[in-house]
Amino acid sequence: MLSGSQMRSTVVLRVDPEQPDRQAIERAAAVIRRGGLVAFPTETVYGLGADALNPEAVARIFEAKGRPAHDPIIVHVADADGLAGVAREVPAVAGRLAEMFWPGPLTLVVPKAQAVPAVVTAGGETVAVRCPAHNVALALIRAAGTPIAAPSANRFGHTSPTAAQHVLEDLDGRFELLLDGGPTPVGVESTVLDLTGRVPTILRPGGVTREALEAVLGRVAVLERLPEGETSPRSPGLLDRHYAPRATLWLFTGPRERVVAAIRREARRARGGGRRVAALVADEDVEEVAGEGILVSSVGPGHDVAGVARRLFAVLRSLDAQHPDLILARDFPREGLGLAVHDRLVRAAGRIIDVTAECSEGD
Ligand code: TXA
Ligand code: MG
Repeated sequence: MLSGSQMRSTVVLRVDPEQPDRQAIERAAAVIRRGGLVAFPTETVYGLGADALNPEAVARIFEAKGRPAHDPIIVHVADADGLAGVAREVPAVAGRLAEMFWPGPLTLVVPKAQAVPAVVTAGGETVAVRCPAHNVALALIRAAGTPIAAPSANRFGHTSPTAAQHVLEDLDGRFELLLDGGPTPVGVESTVLDLTGRVPTILRPGGVTREALEAVLGRVAVLERLPEGETSPRSPGLLDRHYAPRATLWLFTGPRERVVAAIRREARRARGGGRRVAALVADEDVEEVAGEGILVSSVGPGHDVAGVARRLFAVLRSLDAQHPDLILARDFPREGLGLAVHDRLVRAAGRIIDVTAECSEGD
Protein backbone atom coordinates (compact mmCIF):
# COMPACT_ATOMS: atom_id res chain seq x y z
CA MET A 1 0.00 0.00 0.00
CA LEU A 2 1.00 3.60 -0.35
CA SER A 3 3.02 5.14 2.39
CA GLY A 4 1.32 8.21 3.75
CA SER A 5 3.03 11.10 2.05
CA GLN A 6 3.46 9.40 -1.31
CA MET A 7 1.46 11.03 -4.06
CA ARG A 8 0.17 9.50 -7.23
CA SER A 9 -2.56 10.33 -9.65
CA THR A 10 -6.18 9.79 -8.80
CA VAL A 11 -8.22 7.58 -11.15
CA VAL A 12 -11.58 9.13 -12.07
CA LEU A 13 -14.46 6.87 -13.15
CA ARG A 14 -17.75 8.35 -14.33
CA VAL A 15 -20.77 6.43 -13.14
CA ASP A 16 -24.51 6.75 -13.61
CA PRO A 17 -25.86 8.06 -10.28
CA GLU A 18 -28.96 5.88 -10.51
CA GLN A 19 -27.52 2.69 -12.00
CA PRO A 20 -23.76 2.69 -11.48
CA ASP A 21 -21.70 0.42 -13.68
CA ARG A 22 -20.83 -2.83 -11.85
CA GLN A 23 -17.26 -2.85 -13.04
CA ALA A 24 -16.57 0.65 -11.79
CA ILE A 25 -18.10 -0.21 -8.41
CA GLU A 26 -16.09 -3.44 -8.22
CA ARG A 27 -12.87 -1.61 -8.99
CA ALA A 28 -13.60 0.99 -6.29
CA ALA A 29 -14.61 -1.70 -3.79
CA ALA A 30 -11.30 -3.47 -4.40
CA VAL A 31 -9.45 -0.25 -3.54
CA ILE A 32 -11.41 -0.03 -0.26
CA ARG A 33 -10.75 -3.69 0.58
CA ARG A 34 -7.01 -3.30 0.16
CA GLY A 35 -6.86 -0.27 2.44
CA GLY A 36 -7.06 2.53 -0.15
CA LEU A 37 -9.17 5.67 -0.35
CA VAL A 38 -12.17 6.20 -2.64
CA ALA A 39 -14.13 9.43 -3.04
CA PHE A 40 -17.78 8.84 -3.86
CA PRO A 41 -21.04 10.76 -4.13
CA THR A 42 -23.72 10.61 -1.47
CA GLU A 43 -27.04 12.46 -1.57
CA THR A 44 -25.50 15.24 0.57
CA VAL A 45 -21.88 15.85 -0.48
CA TYR A 46 -18.98 13.73 -1.75
CA GLY A 47 -17.24 11.59 0.88
CA LEU A 48 -13.65 10.38 1.09
CA GLY A 49 -14.00 6.75 2.14
CA ALA A 50 -11.91 3.98 3.64
CA ASP A 51 -12.63 0.59 5.22
CA ALA A 52 -14.00 1.65 8.62
CA LEU A 53 -12.59 -1.48 10.27
CA ASN A 54 -9.03 -0.89 9.02
CA PRO A 55 -7.26 1.66 11.25
CA GLU A 56 -4.33 2.27 8.84
CA ALA A 57 -6.74 2.99 5.99
CA VAL A 58 -8.76 5.41 8.14
CA ALA A 59 -5.57 7.14 9.28
CA ARG A 60 -4.84 7.94 5.64
CA ILE A 61 -8.11 9.91 5.42
CA PHE A 62 -6.90 12.27 8.15
CA GLU A 63 -3.63 12.73 6.34
CA ALA A 64 -5.21 13.34 2.93
CA LYS A 65 -7.59 15.95 4.33
CA GLY A 66 -5.22 17.57 6.80
CA ARG A 67 -7.85 16.79 9.42
CA PRO A 68 -6.96 16.92 13.11
CA ALA A 69 -7.05 13.48 14.78
CA HIS A 70 -9.52 14.64 17.44
CA ASP A 71 -12.35 14.99 14.90
CA PRO A 72 -14.29 11.69 14.56
CA ILE A 73 -15.55 10.30 11.25
CA ILE A 74 -19.00 9.09 10.18
CA VAL A 75 -19.36 5.39 9.35
CA HIS A 76 -21.51 4.65 6.29
CA VAL A 77 -23.58 1.46 6.22
CA ALA A 78 -25.95 -0.04 3.65
CA ASP A 79 -28.90 -0.64 5.99
CA ALA A 80 -30.04 -0.89 9.61
CA ASP A 81 -28.22 -4.24 9.98
CA GLY A 82 -25.04 -2.35 9.26
CA LEU A 83 -25.83 -0.10 12.23
CA ALA A 84 -26.08 -3.13 14.52
CA GLY A 85 -22.61 -4.19 13.31
CA VAL A 86 -20.83 -1.04 14.48
CA ALA A 87 -22.93 -0.12 17.54
CA ARG A 88 -22.43 -1.70 20.96
CA GLU A 89 -26.17 -1.40 21.37
CA VAL A 90 -28.85 0.09 19.16
CA PRO A 91 -31.18 2.21 21.29
CA ALA A 92 -34.84 1.61 20.40
CA VAL A 93 -35.14 5.19 19.20
CA ALA A 94 -32.21 4.68 16.81
CA GLY A 95 -33.92 1.67 15.27
CA ARG A 96 -37.09 3.69 14.81
CA LEU A 97 -35.27 6.65 13.24
CA ALA A 98 -33.30 4.36 10.91
CA GLU A 99 -36.52 2.79 9.77
CA MET A 100 -38.10 6.18 9.08
CA PHE A 101 -35.22 8.18 7.63
CA TRP A 102 -32.76 5.68 6.09
CA PRO A 103 -31.46 5.66 3.51
CA GLY A 104 -31.21 9.42 3.99
CA PRO A 105 -29.21 12.37 5.34
CA LEU A 106 -29.49 11.49 9.04
CA THR A 107 -26.43 10.46 11.07
CA LEU A 108 -27.06 8.73 14.39
CA VAL A 109 -24.54 8.91 17.24
CA VAL A 110 -24.71 5.71 19.32
CA PRO A 111 -22.38 3.72 21.62
CA LYS A 112 -19.62 2.15 19.54
CA ALA A 113 -18.90 -1.55 19.10
CA GLN A 114 -15.43 -2.94 19.87
CA ALA A 115 -14.87 -3.69 16.20
CA VAL A 116 -14.74 0.02 15.38
CA PRO A 117 -11.14 1.25 15.65
CA ALA A 118 -10.38 4.20 17.92
CA VAL A 119 -9.07 6.27 14.99
CA VAL A 120 -12.61 6.40 13.55
CA THR A 121 -14.18 7.78 16.73
CA ALA A 122 -11.18 9.90 17.73
CA GLY A 123 -10.81 7.71 20.79
CA GLY A 124 -14.39 8.26 21.90
CA GLU A 125 -16.94 5.68 23.03
CA THR A 126 -19.59 6.73 20.51
CA VAL A 127 -19.79 6.24 16.77
CA ALA A 128 -21.69 8.29 14.19
CA VAL A 129 -23.47 6.12 11.62
CA ARG A 130 -25.49 6.83 8.53
CA CYS A 131 -26.98 5.08 5.51
CA PRO A 132 -26.70 7.37 2.47
CA ALA A 133 -29.58 7.64 -0.02
CA HIS A 134 -27.40 7.35 -3.11
CA ASN A 135 -27.11 4.28 -5.31
CA VAL A 136 -23.38 4.78 -5.92
CA ALA A 137 -22.63 4.97 -2.18
CA LEU A 138 -24.88 2.01 -1.37
CA ALA A 139 -23.45 -0.14 -4.17
CA LEU A 140 -19.90 0.69 -3.02
CA ILE A 141 -20.58 -0.23 0.63
CA ARG A 142 -22.23 -3.50 -0.40
CA ALA A 143 -19.51 -4.44 -2.88
CA ALA A 144 -16.74 -3.61 -0.40
CA GLY A 145 -18.43 -5.84 2.16
CA THR A 146 -17.41 -3.51 4.98
CA PRO A 147 -18.72 -0.30 6.54
CA ILE A 148 -17.06 2.77 5.04
CA ALA A 149 -15.70 5.61 7.16
CA ALA A 150 -16.00 8.87 5.21
CA PRO A 151 -15.82 12.56 6.01
CA SER A 152 -16.65 15.13 3.35
CA ALA A 153 -14.04 14.95 0.58
CA ASN A 154 -12.49 18.40 1.03
CA ARG A 155 -9.36 19.76 2.68
CA PHE A 156 -10.13 20.22 6.36
CA GLY A 157 -12.06 23.43 7.08
CA HIS A 158 -12.83 24.08 3.43
CA THR A 159 -16.25 24.08 1.75
CA SER A 160 -17.70 20.58 1.25
CA PRO A 161 -17.69 19.20 -2.33
CA THR A 162 -21.02 18.86 -4.15
CA ALA A 163 -19.40 17.87 -7.47
CA ALA A 164 -16.52 15.61 -8.47
CA GLN A 165 -14.56 18.62 -9.72
CA HIS A 166 -14.61 20.12 -6.21
CA VAL A 167 -13.06 16.94 -4.83
CA LEU A 168 -10.23 17.13 -7.35
CA GLU A 169 -9.68 20.83 -6.64
CA ASP A 170 -8.97 19.99 -3.00
CA LEU A 171 -7.51 16.48 -3.00
CA ASP A 172 -6.31 15.37 -6.44
CA GLY A 173 -3.43 12.91 -6.10
CA ARG A 174 -4.05 12.34 -2.40
CA PHE A 175 -6.30 9.29 -2.87
CA GLU A 176 -6.65 6.41 -5.31
CA LEU A 177 -10.03 6.60 -6.99
CA LEU A 178 -12.95 8.98 -7.53
CA LEU A 179 -16.41 7.83 -8.56
CA ASP A 180 -17.91 10.78 -10.42
CA GLY A 181 -21.68 10.47 -10.13
CA GLY A 182 -22.46 14.10 -10.99
CA PRO A 183 -23.68 16.81 -8.62
CA THR A 184 -25.09 15.75 -5.25
CA PRO A 185 -28.83 16.32 -4.86
CA VAL A 186 -29.11 17.64 -1.27
CA GLY A 187 -26.01 19.81 -1.19
CA VAL A 188 -25.59 20.25 2.57
CA GLU A 189 -24.27 17.52 4.86
CA SER A 190 -26.34 15.12 6.94
CA THR A 191 -28.01 16.03 10.20
CA VAL A 192 -25.92 14.65 13.07
CA LEU A 193 -28.20 13.51 15.91
CA ASP A 194 -26.71 12.42 19.23
CA LEU A 195 -28.79 9.67 20.85
CA THR A 196 -26.46 8.98 23.77
CA GLY A 197 -27.81 11.66 26.11
CA ARG A 198 -31.18 12.10 27.87
CA VAL A 199 -32.61 14.26 25.08
CA PRO A 200 -31.84 13.60 21.39
CA THR A 201 -29.59 16.47 20.35
CA ILE A 202 -28.84 17.83 16.90
CA LEU A 203 -25.08 18.38 16.84
CA ARG A 204 -25.19 19.62 13.25
CA PRO A 205 -28.35 20.62 11.36
CA GLY A 206 -28.47 19.07 7.90
CA GLY A 207 -30.50 17.27 5.27
CA VAL A 208 -33.17 15.87 7.62
CA THR A 209 -34.94 18.83 9.19
CA ARG A 210 -35.40 19.53 12.87
CA GLU A 211 -39.15 19.68 12.23
CA ALA A 212 -39.16 16.16 10.72
CA LEU A 213 -37.26 14.81 13.73
CA GLU A 214 -39.54 16.60 16.19
CA ALA A 215 -42.58 15.07 14.50
CA VAL A 216 -41.18 11.66 15.47
CA LEU A 217 -39.34 12.34 18.71
CA GLY A 218 -41.18 15.24 20.31
CA ARG A 219 -38.52 17.40 21.92
CA VAL A 220 -35.19 17.64 20.15
CA ALA A 221 -32.39 19.83 21.45
CA VAL A 222 -30.13 21.75 19.09
CA LEU A 223 -26.55 22.30 20.11
CA GLU A 224 -26.05 26.03 19.88
CA ARG A 225 -22.67 27.02 18.58
CA LEU A 226 -22.88 30.65 19.48
CA PRO A 227 -19.79 32.42 18.33
CA GLU A 228 -17.39 33.38 21.03
CA GLY A 229 -17.66 37.04 21.82
CA GLU A 230 -21.14 37.35 20.34
CA THR A 231 -23.00 38.80 23.27
CA SER A 232 -25.88 40.80 21.92
CA PRO A 233 -27.65 40.47 18.60
CA ARG A 234 -26.29 43.82 17.55
CA SER A 235 -22.64 43.15 18.17
CA PRO A 236 -20.93 41.41 15.31
CA GLY A 237 -19.30 38.19 16.47
CA LEU A 238 -15.95 36.78 15.56
CA LEU A 239 -16.09 33.11 14.77
CA ASP A 240 -14.08 30.02 14.17
CA ARG A 241 -14.21 29.51 10.45
CA HIS A 242 -15.40 26.21 9.02
CA TYR A 243 -16.92 25.25 5.68
CA ALA A 244 -15.10 28.35 4.68
CA PRO A 245 -14.07 29.96 1.44
CA ARG A 246 -10.63 31.54 1.28
CA ALA A 247 -12.04 35.04 1.09
CA THR A 248 -13.34 36.78 4.19
CA LEU A 249 -17.11 36.36 4.42
CA TRP A 250 -19.48 38.69 6.25
CA LEU A 251 -22.95 37.35 6.94
CA PHE A 252 -25.83 39.80 7.14
CA THR A 253 -28.81 38.62 9.16
CA GLY A 254 -32.21 40.19 9.90
CA PRO A 255 -35.23 41.25 7.84
CA ARG A 256 -34.56 40.69 4.15
CA GLU A 257 -35.05 44.29 2.98
CA ARG A 258 -32.59 45.64 5.55
CA VAL A 259 -30.12 42.86 4.84
CA VAL A 260 -30.15 43.58 1.13
CA ALA A 261 -29.87 47.33 1.68
CA ALA A 262 -26.93 46.79 4.03
CA ILE A 263 -25.15 44.51 1.53
CA ARG A 264 -25.70 47.09 -1.21
CA ARG A 265 -24.25 49.82 0.99
CA GLU A 266 -21.32 47.78 2.27
CA ALA A 267 -20.45 46.54 -1.22
CA ARG A 268 -20.19 50.09 -2.49
CA ARG A 269 -18.18 51.20 0.50
CA ALA A 270 -15.70 48.33 0.21
CA ARG A 271 -15.35 48.78 -3.55
CA GLY A 272 -14.80 52.49 -3.04
CA GLY A 273 -12.01 51.52 -0.66
CA GLY A 274 -10.37 49.56 -3.47
CA ARG A 275 -11.44 46.10 -2.35
CA ARG A 276 -12.61 43.35 -4.68
CA VAL A 277 -16.14 42.59 -3.47
CA ALA A 278 -18.54 39.72 -4.08
CA ALA A 279 -22.14 39.26 -2.93
CA LEU A 280 -23.97 35.99 -2.31
CA VAL A 281 -27.70 36.63 -2.50
CA ALA A 282 -31.00 35.18 -3.78
CA ASP A 283 -32.56 35.84 -7.20
CA GLU A 284 -34.90 38.53 -5.83
CA ASP A 285 -31.94 40.50 -4.39
CA VAL A 286 -29.69 40.58 -7.45
CA GLU A 287 -30.98 43.75 -9.04
CA GLU A 288 -30.72 45.79 -5.87
CA VAL A 289 -27.20 44.66 -5.02
CA ALA A 290 -25.76 44.71 -8.55
CA GLY A 291 -23.36 47.50 -9.42
CA GLU A 292 -20.21 48.10 -11.37
CA GLY A 293 -17.31 46.01 -10.14
CA ILE A 294 -19.40 43.93 -7.73
CA LEU A 295 -19.45 40.17 -8.36
CA VAL A 296 -23.01 39.12 -7.62
CA SER A 297 -23.96 35.44 -7.41
CA SER A 298 -27.39 34.03 -6.66
CA VAL A 299 -28.24 30.75 -4.95
CA GLY A 300 -31.67 30.79 -6.65
CA PRO A 301 -35.04 32.01 -5.44
CA GLY A 302 -34.96 32.54 -1.66
CA HIS A 303 -38.22 30.67 -1.08
CA ASP A 304 -36.81 27.49 -2.67
CA VAL A 305 -34.81 26.46 0.36
CA ALA A 306 -33.95 23.02 -1.04
CA GLY A 307 -32.52 24.72 -4.11
CA VAL A 308 -30.55 27.15 -1.96
CA ALA A 309 -29.10 24.22 0.01
CA ARG A 310 -28.24 22.36 -3.19
CA ARG A 311 -26.44 25.35 -4.74
CA LEU A 312 -24.85 26.98 -1.69
CA PHE A 313 -21.42 25.31 -1.64
CA ALA A 314 -20.94 25.44 -5.42
CA VAL A 315 -21.72 29.18 -5.43
CA LEU A 316 -19.30 29.77 -2.55
CA ARG A 317 -16.59 27.89 -4.43
CA SER A 318 -17.16 29.71 -7.70
CA LEU A 319 -17.12 33.10 -5.97
CA ASP A 320 -13.95 32.14 -4.18
CA ALA A 321 -12.32 31.12 -7.45
CA GLN A 322 -12.64 34.75 -8.58
CA HIS A 323 -10.49 35.80 -5.63
CA PRO A 324 -12.58 38.53 -4.01
CA ASP A 325 -11.18 40.17 -0.87
CA LEU A 326 -14.60 40.12 0.72
CA ILE A 327 -17.83 38.14 0.24
CA LEU A 328 -21.01 39.73 1.57
CA ALA A 329 -23.69 37.07 2.09
CA ARG A 330 -27.33 37.25 3.05
CA ASP A 331 -28.84 34.91 5.62
CA PHE A 332 -31.90 32.69 5.05
CA PRO A 333 -34.88 31.85 7.27
CA ARG A 334 -34.05 29.05 9.70
CA GLU A 335 -37.00 26.79 8.93
CA GLY A 336 -36.65 23.39 7.32
CA LEU A 337 -33.41 23.04 5.34
CA GLY A 338 -32.87 26.76 6.01
CA LEU A 339 -31.45 25.89 9.44
CA ALA A 340 -28.61 23.96 7.78
CA VAL A 341 -28.04 26.75 5.24
CA HIS A 342 -27.88 29.30 8.08
CA ASP A 343 -25.51 27.08 10.07
CA ARG A 344 -23.07 26.70 7.15
CA LEU A 345 -23.11 30.42 6.45
CA VAL A 346 -22.46 31.19 10.11
CA ARG A 347 -19.52 28.80 10.13
CA ALA A 348 -18.14 30.25 6.92
CA ALA A 349 -18.40 33.78 8.27
CA GLY A 350 -15.59 35.80 9.75
CA ARG A 351 -18.15 38.28 10.98
CA ILE A 352 -21.91 38.31 11.52
CA ILE A 353 -23.80 41.56 11.20
CA ASP A 354 -27.33 41.65 12.59
CA VAL A 355 -29.24 44.51 10.98
CA THR A 356 -32.52 43.82 12.79
CA ALA A 357 -32.31 46.94 14.95
CA GLU A 358 -30.69 49.15 12.34
CA CYS A 359 -32.66 52.23 11.26
CA SER A 360 -33.58 51.97 7.63
CA GLU A 361 -31.89 54.74 5.73
CA GLY A 362 -31.68 55.70 2.12
CA ASP A 363 -28.56 54.72 0.33
O1 TXA B 1 -23.46 14.24 4.80
C1 TXA B 1 -22.49 13.91 5.48
O2 TXA B 1 -22.57 13.71 6.71
C2 TXA B 1 -21.14 13.76 4.76
C3 TXA B 1 -21.24 12.60 3.80
C4 TXA B 1 -19.92 12.30 3.13
O3 TXA B 1 -21.72 11.48 4.48
N1 TXA B 1 -20.09 13.55 5.72
C5 TXA B 1 -19.62 14.54 6.52
O4 TXA B 1 -18.58 14.16 7.33
O5 TXA B 1 -20.07 15.67 6.49
P1 TXA B 1 -17.65 15.21 8.12
O6 TXA B 1 -16.58 14.39 8.73
O7 TXA B 1 -17.24 16.27 7.20
O8 TXA B 1 -18.59 15.73 9.24
C6 TXA B 1 -19.01 14.83 10.24
C7 TXA B 1 -19.33 15.53 11.50
C8 TXA B 1 -18.11 16.18 12.12
O9 TXA B 1 -18.47 17.45 12.59
C9 TXA B 1 -17.76 15.24 13.27
O10 TXA B 1 -17.17 15.94 14.33
C10 TXA B 1 -19.13 14.69 13.64
O11 TXA B 1 -19.83 14.57 12.44
N2 TXA B 1 -18.99 13.37 14.27
C11 TXA B 1 -18.48 12.25 13.75
N3 TXA B 1 -18.48 11.25 14.64
C12 TXA B 1 -19.02 11.74 15.77
C13 TXA B 1 -19.29 11.19 17.06
N4 TXA B 1 -19.00 9.94 17.37
N5 TXA B 1 -19.85 12.00 17.98
C14 TXA B 1 -20.16 13.28 17.67
N6 TXA B 1 -19.92 13.86 16.47
C15 TXA B 1 -19.35 13.09 15.53
MG1 MG C 1 -16.69 18.00 6.56
